[in-house]
Amino acid sequence: MSEVALQATGLVRRIEGDVSHILVNGIDLSVNKGEFLAITGPSGSGKSSLLYLLGLLDAPNEGDVIICGQPTSKLSESERADVRLTRLGFVFQFHFLLPEFTSLDNVILPMRAAGKMSEKDMRERGLELLASLGLKEHASKRPNQLSGGQRQRVAIARALSNRPEIIVADEPTGALDTASTEQVFSILREIADNGRTVVVVTHDPALAARADRRVHIVDGKIHETFVGERKAAEAAVTADVTTAEP
Ligand SMILES: Nc1ncnc2c1ncn2[C@@H]1O[C@H](COP(=O)(O)OP(=O)(O)OP(=O)(O)O)[C@@H](O)[C@H]1O
Ligand SMILES: [Mg+2]
Repeated sequence: MSEVALQATGLVRRIEGDVSHILVNGIDLSVNKGEFLAITGPSGSGKSSLLYLLGLLDAPNEGDVIICGQPTSKLSESERADVRLTRLGFVFQFHFLLPEFTSLDNVILPMRAAGKMSEKDMRERGLELLASLGLKEHASKRPNQLSGGQRQRVAIARALSNRPEIIVADEPTGALDTASTEQVFSILREIADNGRTVVVVTHDPALAARADRRVHIVDGKIHETFVGERKAAEAAVTADVTTAEP
């Protein structure tokens, strides 16, 4: 049976005020290890709000987020920060790289924050990650010396640096041209194929169809769930084999 990496149960997030506003309105979701899940939905439907809850960047008013079997709603802020640092990697629409740092130093930051590796090992891992994303020649450049696609790949390397089980990405290709979009999306696909769990918010239906599964959010709720192209093709092959048998 597939192992569940990330689970949301009865998630509700509301903003209390003169007029209270529900951003996430009762979401149950389970994402397997190695699964590539896309979240789509109209602007303002609650996709980012949901992703922030799943990534422990925000806390729900009701429900729980279970990361690799660990419920998180009762954790202290520092315990949540620890889960964020070690089990989760983040990629946003804008890269949020530190402008005065080189690519390598940006990639090393989460390793430094975790404080478990020697300087030499951090540099070695940082360089390996950059090389695996085609950025070997760009390790000592600063973000303003890189293209948008290159910056986003540095941000992905940074997200992977502490070997998190789960990557969450909010519109990671939203600010990129077509070629860079293709490259970044293929990298995310490969990360999932290598056994990590990837949850990506995207406006692009063609990209979303390449995920294993797509959940479509409307008004803070899961409106529909679709099986991705590849899973659908696999299912069709399995069905053919079954019907072909005597
Ligand atoms: N801190 C906040 N206070 C009040 N309302 C908020 C807050 N954050 C988000 N909202 C509202 O909650 C709703 C959901 O926002 P969210 O950012 O999750 O949407 P989204 O689906 O990511 O949209 P987009 O596709 O435009 O990024 C929107 O109506 C938004 O205006
Ligand atoms: Mg959003």
